[in-house]
Amino acid sequence: MAKNTLLCCILAIACTFVVASDPAPLQDFCVADFNSPVLGNGVACLDPEHVTADNFSLSGLDVPGNVSNPQGSAITLTTVGQIPGLNTLGISLVRIDYAPWGVVSPHTDPRATEILLVIEGTLLIGFVTSNPDNKLITKVIQKGDVFVFPEGLIHFQQNVGYRSAFSYSGLSSQNPGVVLVPDTVFGSTPHIATDVLAKAFQVDKAIVGQIEAKF
Ligand SMILES: *[C@@H]1O[C@H](CO)[C@@H](O)[C@H](O)[C@H]1NC(C)=O
Ligand SMILES: *[C@@H]1O[C@H](CO)[C@@H](O)[C@H](O)[C@H]1NC(C)=O
Repeated sequence: MAKNTLLCCILAIACTFVVASDPAPLQDFCVADFNSPVLGNGVACLDPEHVTADNFSLSGLDVPGNVSNPQGSAITLTTVGQIPGLNTLGISLVRIDYAPWGVVSPHTDPRATEILLVIEGTLLIGFVTSNPDNKLITKVIQKGDVFVFPEGLIHFQQNVGYRSAFSYSGLSSQNPGVVLVPDTVFGSTPHIATDVLAKAFQVDKAIVGQIEAKF
């Protein structure tokens, strides 16, 4: 009897781990329970009894983001952090607003392929293939055009017009993540050793210091 209880306990723990860490849905949904102490690959599930339509919903994506920043762009997230119902479902959405000539700095979304749809304006967009080719794939796209950024590759956008622009992107992750090249390389805490960056970028150490001071 004691042996059976022990076995049940082990199975229960193992099952908890499978549900909490498997990124593919093994049930209809798994609304994220951010209060759960269980850590896993994703977020533990809210009891389905307590789930409501609000847990799958968000409002306000019609409102432009605030583009008053040095890059002149604003990213409004609709990932699992904003919609708990996205947990385990492998998708998310972002709205991006661009001031005239504003940019989204070169970055990767480490966990997602992105498909971008221009709603207003004209964007110069592109991505760079991995080493050794580092080929730039780029074009100018307009209202109604769609472009795809393959998972993990460095990409960027710029509004190449005198009017505001905005786009929506679908991403193949509930939590795609963003690694902005300037912020991560020159703005880490603490800084990457100056000598490392000076050699990597083949510039004087003073120039590294100048760039770091901006972040
Ligand atoms: C789910 O929605 C309800 C309102 O319908 C809300 O009270 C609750 O906090 C939400 N749960 C999560 C995890 O967002
Ligand atoms: C937009 O951001 C700037 C800079 O952070 C801030 O000064 C300004 O108040 C913000 N505007 C709105 C409408 O929130």
